[in-house]
Parts: sequence; C-alpha cells; structure tokens
Amino acid sequence: MKRLFINIGILVQVETGDSVLKRAGEEMSVMNLIKDSYMAVENEVISDFGSMETLRALTSNGVEYWLENMADEVVDLKGAVVMPSFCDSHTHLVYAGSREREFIDKVRGLSYKEIAARGGGILNSAQLLHETDENELFRQTEVRAREILSYGTGAVEIKSGYGLNPEDEIKMLRVAKRIEKETPLTVKTTFLGAHAVPSRYLGKREEYVNEIINEMIPVIATEELADYVDVFTEDGFFTVEDTDRILNAGMKYGLRAKVHANQMSFSGGVQVGVKYNAISVDHLEFTGVEEFNILKNSDTMATLLPGSTFFLEMEYAPARRMIESGIAVALATNYNPGSSPYGDMRFIMALAALKYKMTTEEIINAVTINGAYAMGLSESHGSIARGKRADFIVCKDIPSLDYIPYTFTSPLIDQIWLGGVKISVS
Ligand code: NIG
Repeated sequence: MKRLFINIGILVQVETGDSVLKRAGEEMSVMNLIKDSYMAVENEVISDFGSMETLRALTSNGVEYWLENMADEVVDLKGAVVMPSFCDSHTHLVYAGSREREFIDKVRGLSYKEIAARGGGILNSAQLLHETDENELFRQTEVRAREILSYGTGAVEIKSGYGLNPEDEIKMLRVAKRIEKETPLTVKTTFLGAHAVPSRYLGKREEYVNEIINEMIPVIATEELADYVDVFTEDGFFTVEDTDRILNAGMKYGLRAKVHANQMSFSGGVQVGVKYNAISVDHLEFTGVEEFNILKNSDTMATLLPGSTFFLEMEYAPARRMIESGIAVALATNYNPGSSPYGDMRFIMALAALKYKMTTEEIINAVTINGAYAMGLSESHGSIARGKRADFIVCKDIPSLDYIPYTFTSPLIDQIWLGGVKISVS
C-alpha cells in the first residue's frame, strides 16, 4: 500500500542529512522542519518526503496523476502539523489496581519512603499484582495502553518490578509482550526484579539479589521476555554493589542495563550504570558535576521523569545544566501507580518547559529521537526519515509548535498513524 500525504503545514523532526540516533547538548536545539510539505509512506515505512513545491515539479498534473502513478491513496492534510509519535522510554504500565489511599497519605504529609516503610508503595502493588490473574492483569494494562495511544505515544518501554518473585515477574513481562502483540504500540520490555526487596526477604536483601541473578535473569533472558535489565539503586532499595552484580549478570545474558538512578540521593546509580554502558539512567534528580562529566562522555541517555518529581513534590533534576554540559536528555512519563499515575507525554512536555526551562525544540527532541534512543529504537523510530517506521501524529489546527506544551490539556491530535496504519483511539 502506497499513501501520499499532501499539504502538510509543517513536517516536524525530519532527517535531512545523515541519520541521527540521538541529540545531545546544544544539538538538542536543532529541529528540522519542512513547511508546505508531503510525505510518502509505503506499507509501514516512510519512503519519501519533501516540499510540495518539489512534488509539484515532479508531477505537474495534480492529484489524479499522483494517484495513478505514485500512490494507492492520497491523504490531503490541509495544512496540519505532522510530527513523529512520542517515544515514552520509562513506564511501569503493567500493574494491578491503584494506590489512591497512599495518595491521600501523601497529601496528609507522609513521604514516599515513609509510605513504603508502612508496607505501602511497591510492596503494596506487588501484593495486588500477586492476587490478580494474568488475563485480568492484561485487561487492566490494555486500558492504559489504549490511553497512552490516544495521547500520541507510539513506542513505549514497559518494566516488570511489581512481581518480586520469578512467577509474578514473568507474568508481568508476558503481559507486556501481549500488549505489543495486541495493540499498535511498539514495546520494549525491561526486567526490574530489583525494584524493592520483597517481604519474604526482609533483612536478607543479598539473598534476594542472588535469586534475581540465579533464578530470574536466566529464565527471563532465555525466554526472551526482556530487552533490558534495571535496578532501583537507592538507599532503602538496592546498593551500588547489588546493582553492579545484577547488571553484570544481565550483561552475560545479553540484557543491556538501565538504572533508576539518583532519584532521592546521590546514590552512585549514574556511575554504575555508565560503567555497564547502560542505554539509559533514569530520574537523576540528584546529579552534579561529577555525574554530568560521566554522562557527557558516555553513550548513556539521561532520562528525566518530571511527572514523578511533580507528584512527589521533590526538587527537579537540573535539566538546563545537563543540556548546557553537553548531555543528551530524554523525557518519559514513568507511568506507575505510586509516583506518576499518568501517561500523557504532553503533561511531561509542559513540566519540562515550566520546571526544567527547556525550549520546545529541546523538548521535542527529548520525547522523540532521544526517547527512541533510550529504548534502542532510534534506527527505526523517533524522526521522519526515509526507511523509518511511519509512526506519526497529525495535529489539530495549532498556531505553532510552542502551542503543544503551552495548552497541554487542550486536544492536540486529529489523527494517529502507526506503522503506516491509521489507528482509532476512541
Ligand atoms: O520510578 N522509583 C521507583 N519506581 C517508581 C515508583 C514505583 C511505585 O511507587 O510504584 C518510580 O518512581
């Protein structure tokens, strides 16, 4: 099937030269646009794009000629803005139930750590998940998957981490894989057995780490249930030494590292993540010059999650200083029931503007190409380029790109195309 999209008002995030896998530092201000443009899509990939002027010069005879010679269908976008769909590289989309009671505890003054210490938090979600069968878990997750699709997300990373035993971790990852099969989302999966120490290992954290290394990683890798391995490296959760052992074991099984790093303290998560060439280190509220230097000289994406910083009412990550230090920054929702119970990338974009003082160009790079990089997808996703997957959104009538983070609750999307197919999100 060949489709020709014509009269695009602005085609955003196009690759005009060599292929770009991520943008770092001042390059994050680069945003290639083509005004009054067309895009050709063949089956699931973008085959061509350019200005309407070029297209007209190629074919002087208008739409009928194009239909006969270049496409099976012509879609007139009547001046709309077209951009790549969002790449959300950090979510905990698979979970059971909800934790609004903890939300009220938080409103009454309890901290995230205090809620966790009372058996709330991740352990509460683990109990709920344990009591929920796989089909029901899928049903609840699919609702969230359809929700994020409707917000314009086309690719998503989904973590385990509410199982905390081999059976339930595997159950979560199977559900994530089924989301990929049964929805139009592109999905990458991450094994996060080291999200919290389960109650049965109270006071025996190292034994739980042994179980992760000896019993979970081998099965999960062999059954190809995960692309990445992740650890919550934080005081009260897992130490740098635990992280080192787990990432090392994951590496031996072909699972590249990711780390929940420096969310609540200078935890050493960045250092150990970069040591293992992590594809991303995520959170980074507590980072300084030492971490900046390490990240700048690495292939690791710095993924910021302002949604959870907002929800937990913490200090925001020093995004401006990171970008000014030459670091590549991605933005993700961290959709989860405890610290970020929402999955709208546009809210994250608004927070990035208001709290991180990022420009619209930096933000769009962070939610497209850099998000794709943080999932190992930037060769196929995250920009408008020949040969890349035709994953894009057609915006409602918007006056400028700045409008996107500005009125972040107004409807943005008119059409969503994933893999060259128009999807219905009702
Ligand atoms: O990324 N920090 C660890 N994990 C999640 C929170 C998970 C939860 O509270 O359920 C996060 O914020």
